[in-house]
Order: sequence, then C-alpha cells, then structure tokens
Amino acid sequence: MSLRRASVRRLTERQGNLMTTQQSLDGIAISLDQANDRACSSEYYLLRYRWRVLMPRLRGPRILELGCAEGEMTKFLAKQFPEVVAVDGSALLLERARKDVHANNVVFQQALFEEFVPDGKFSSIVVACVLEHVQDPIAFLRRCKEWLAPKGRIYIMVPNAYALNRRVGKAMGMLKRLDELHERDLRLGHQRVYSRQTLAADIESAGLEAAHWDGILLKPLSDAQVQNWDPALLDAFFEVGKELPEWCTEIYVECQAPIVAKGR
Ligand SMILES: C[S@@+](CC[C@H](N)C(=O)[O-])C[C@H]1O[C@@H](n2cnc3c(N)ncnc32)[C@H](O)[C@@H]1O
Repeated sequence: MSLRRASVRRLTERQGNLMTTQQSLDGIAISLDQANDRACSSEYYLLRYRWRVLMPRLRGPRILELGCAEGEMTKFLAKQFPEVVAVDGSALLLERARKDVHANNVVFQQALFEEFVPDGKFSSIVVACVLEHVQDPIAFLRRCKEWLAPKGRIYIMVPNAYALNRRVGKAMGMLKRLDELHERDLRLGHQRVYSRQTLAADIESAGLEAAHWDGILLKPLSDAQVQNWDPALLDAFFEVGKELPEWCTEIYVECQAPIVAKGR
C-alpha cells in the first residue's frame, strides 16, 4: 500500500471509529477542496444525471433532502415543490448552501442524521449519495421510514460496486475486488459501496420495500477522466445506460413502507 493511501486509510479509520461529528464532516469537505475534488460541490457533473432520473418520479408537496451539501439539488427541488427541508451535518457545506440557494420555500437545518428530528411528515425523502457515508444505514433507514407521510417514498442513490467504471478499474489491477473502497472512496468518507443485493438487504432489514430500481449514468472511466467530456457525449452514455442500469455508476432505488392489505 502506498504511503498516501495508508494515511488516507488511517484518517478514515479514525473518522469511522468515532461517532460522525460536524467536525469530521467539515474535515471531509476541506480535504475534498484541497484535492480539488468537486464531488460534494454544486459543480459536480453527476448531479444533473441524478436529477434527470429523480425529478419525474418525486411526489410533493413536502420534500425532505438529507445530505444537501452545497445545495445544488436543493435548488432543483425548490423550483418544483412548495416546501423543502434540507439537512446536512456539515456547518461548512450548509453555509455555502445558505449563501447560494435563494428560495423562500427552503428551510435549511444543520443536524446529524442520527439526531435530526423533523417537524412533521414528508411525501418524498431524498437520500442521494448518503447511505454509503453513515455508520448504521439500517438504523438510518428505519428513522427515515418514521418520517414518511402515507404513500410517501424514500429515494436512494448509492455508488454501484458493479459499475462499468469499477469493472474497468479492476481489470486494470487498480482494485482487487469490486466492492473494495479505493483511495477516493476513503477521502470522500465512504464506509461501503453497494450492490443491488446488499442495498436490497439493508432496505428489507429496515422494514421497507423496494418499489422501483434504476441506474444513474453508464460511464467507462473515473470521474476525473469523464467530468470534462463534451456534455453531448455524457448525455449519450446516460441514454445507453438506461438499457444497462446494473452497470451504471450509481444504483437508484425508491422504497416505501410495506402496504398492508385491508382486512388484515
Ligand atoms: C456525497 S454528499 C451528498 C451530496 C448531495 N446529496 C448530492 O446528491 O450531490 C454527502 C453529504 O452527507 C452529509 N453527511 C454525511 N453523513 C452525515 C451524517 N451522519 N449526518 C448529517 N450529514 C451527513 C455530508 O456532510 C455531505 O454533505
């Protein structure tokens, strides 16, 4: 293991061993800034593809966005729905979001997900690239379930261990296993990458049921390699990815509380 990789791993193990704190989340945001990694920023190219998959499926009127980071998705949500509550544990990222999002139908709230207590129920809860960060994803999903209005849904996006880009990385010897955390995963604070099977198991253990699966963006190479591609080329990969959701870079799933048949 290289020295750099070993030190990132030590940093992440330290973060993982402690309870998540505002400081550890701010620390991740700062180390991303230092590495010029835009993954939690408003400029992240994948956001537009997450939104294309999510937008037609969301249901209003009241949306909870968990892990809003700098608030780019929040802007999209605020244009479409009358009420948005956006939560993040990082004071640094929330400060940027508050400066950048000018919408009077958004309430920003700084809280750790493990401690957040909402003031009511939501028709949609957006959990975009968050589950891979939390220490106990099943407990987190159980809490989200309690916040759903009747017929409400939770919209989840996570990195896909079986994505084409990871398969290519493994074939090049950069990963030993597809579900291994690589250096960038560790820098981002990822605690795991998911397959459909592991995500389905977490959803079921949380007492939820998956209602719709999809994939977000087929891409052959890493973010650093594709993010400056001509948008028309990325759009073409997005279109082709619709036919290969299990090879896309992120897994998308909507879940809901189990529907209990009348009379039972
Ligand atoms: C990868 S970013 C997600 C960004 C955004 N949802 C998107 O689609 O681009 C993960 C966000 O979750 C926040 N986060 C991670 N763990 C958290 C926790 N336990 N409590 C509160 N916020 C947390 C981080 O601060 C970060 O802003």
